Amino acid sequence: MTRGWRTRHDPAVTARGIEVFDRVADRYDEVIPFFAAFAGELADSLGFTAGARVLDLAAGRGAVAAEALARGCRVTAVDAAANMVARLRADHPAVAGHVMDAHRLGFPDGSFDVVVSGFAMHLFADPAVVFDEVRRILVPGGVFAFTVPGGPDPATDPLPELFAEFGRYLPPGGGMGRPLDARAAFTGAGFAGVEAVTLTVDLPVAGAEVLWEWGLTHGSLAYFEDLPADRREEFRARLFAEVTGPTRLRRQAQLWTGSTG
Ligand SMILES: C[S@@+](CC[C@H](N)C(=O)[O-])C[C@H]1O[C@@H](n2cnc3c(N)ncnc32)[C@H](O)[C@@H]1O
Repeated sequence: MTRGWRTRHDPAVTARGIEVFDRVADRYDEVIPFFAAFAGELADSLGFTAGARVLDLAAGRGAVAAEALARGCRVTAVDAAANMVARLRADHPAVAGHVMDAHRLGFPDGSFDVVVSGFAMHLFADPAVVFDEVRRILVPGGVFAFTVPGGPDPATDPLPELFAEFGRYLPPGGGMGRPLDARAAFTGAGFAGVEAVTLTVDLPVAGAEVLWEWGLTHGSLAYFEDLPADRREEFRARLFAEVTGPTRLRRQAQLWTGSTG
């Protein structure tokens, strides 16, 4: 099917992204609990029903899965990075964790009441295929909910501006993640009742060293590795010049929801 919004990403770039997540899995979300904080906001906004069959898609170490589990759901989680799934299984043995590509979900039609995904839909090679797969494995009336970074930028630190400024030094296809037209993607896959709300987190950060370490322990590692070495050092120096004491990590995300109707 041809869809006007459809963008496919270079498979080599997305495979490299999964390799990066494999490498950072041991420290992912440990420097600043950014993804855990957003998972809590997502769960509070969505309101999981006890007993619901929930799939956490591209689950990482299971930030969203843990929230669903805590609310009495029956939780399955998949991720393409084997080290992420290993950590998820160790930390959350009650979750059924599988190494699986989001484009080829090995579940029968109508297996889940809810599919959730934190900060991953903008990373996939062909999001339209993932939307179709999610629709297939949801029951009629099932809900797909996912977060993507963004919204009016309330940042209290210089990282977003530095990312934008230094982006011109990335090679073509460098960094990680591409904008997703979520409404068009939902509509193209036949979902109904599409809505978006803004989530916000506001976390204390001891200083520039912690912000830098955080940047090296999640997907932005791909951005830093793609910068030429001298530009990476310049980025780091600018960060340390601009953040000279404790600060806060204040960010927004969009939580999109749609129903199979
Ligand atoms: C930013 S992390 C988010 C992880 C988790 N949802 C969270 O909120 O902490 C993105 C995750 O997407 C996974 N991922 C990327 N491409 C994937 C694919 N094609 N299939 C399954 N998982 C994928 C990565 O391995 C990584 O764990």
